[in-house]
Amino acid sequence: MRVQVLELIKEYDGIKVLDIEKLSFEKGRIHVVMGPNGSGKSTLLSIIAGLEKAGGGRTAYGDEQHDFERVRKKITLVMQRSYLFNTTVYANIAAGLRYRRLEQSKLRDRVLRCAHAVDLKGLLYRNVRTLSGGEKQRVALARALALQPDLLLLDESTANLDPESIIIIEKVLKDFQREWGATIIFVTHNIFQAKRLADEAYLLMRGRVIETGKSKDFFDNPVSELTRGFLGGDIVY
Ligand SMILES: Nc1ncnc2c1ncn2[C@@H]1O[C@H](COP(=O)(O)OP(=O)(O)OP(=O)(O)O)[C@@H](O)[C@H]1O
Ligand SMILES: [Mg+2]
Repeated sequence: MRVQVLELIKEYDGIKVLDIEKLSFEKGRIHVVMGPNGSGKSTLLSIIAGLEKAGGGRTAYGDEQHDFERVRKKITLVMQRSYLFNTTVYANIAAGLRYRRLEQSKLRDRVLRCAHAVDLKGLLYRNVRTLSGGEKQRVALARALALQPDLLLLDESTANLDPESIIIIEKVLKDFQREWGATIIFVTHNIFQAKRLADEAYLLMRGRVIETGKSKDFFDNPVSELTRGFLGGDIVY
């Protein structure tokens, strides 16, 4: 599902934290949004996920430019620390599917497949309270994938994971994009991860879009001096 953000303004306590004229996220691609702390990445995702209201402008979904209400079931957000229910891994992954009344045999099949994809199969009947931070993050991801969203939003979703788990998750996301044709927007600080994942790359600073481009152009030949500084590890504000 394509997403367009148009003339978006967001303020907190009179301070503008997002000011974006136009931003497009095309269907079936992996978009990686980077930027320093406080640049507005999470706020942008929350607005696209319908959790926060923008102060001005609009977000349009799909080719028909629907409003959020028409497409909400097709969108899933995985936050930095996603809320999990106090029950087993299996029940957490199944929760959204139960709510949507998916038939039992299909549900089981899908839960097992998603648990397997994120390497959680041995932990299915453990209570999530007994899991490590990284394992919990993988439960949140499996739960999101199980819903088969057309738009998957991820906010620093691999932040506490070890390198091996990160590689697993990156592969899962690429497979999901390819097999399901999902549109993925991934927020990360990790430039190496961004290079591995991105079809399209975006840099936000102080609520503004500094540069967008195809991954290769963005990383190999950035136009903006600020992008060059950011990629080079300088602190730029
Ligand atoms: N609920 C809120 N009330 C007031 N200010 C907020 C609120 N949420 C975010 N902000 C401010 O908006 C700005 C953007 O925050 P946001 O969380 O979107 O940044 P970010 O790019 O995700 O940063 P990080 O890399 O640290 O996660 C920050 O200055 C933040 O302090
Ligand atoms: Mg954030």
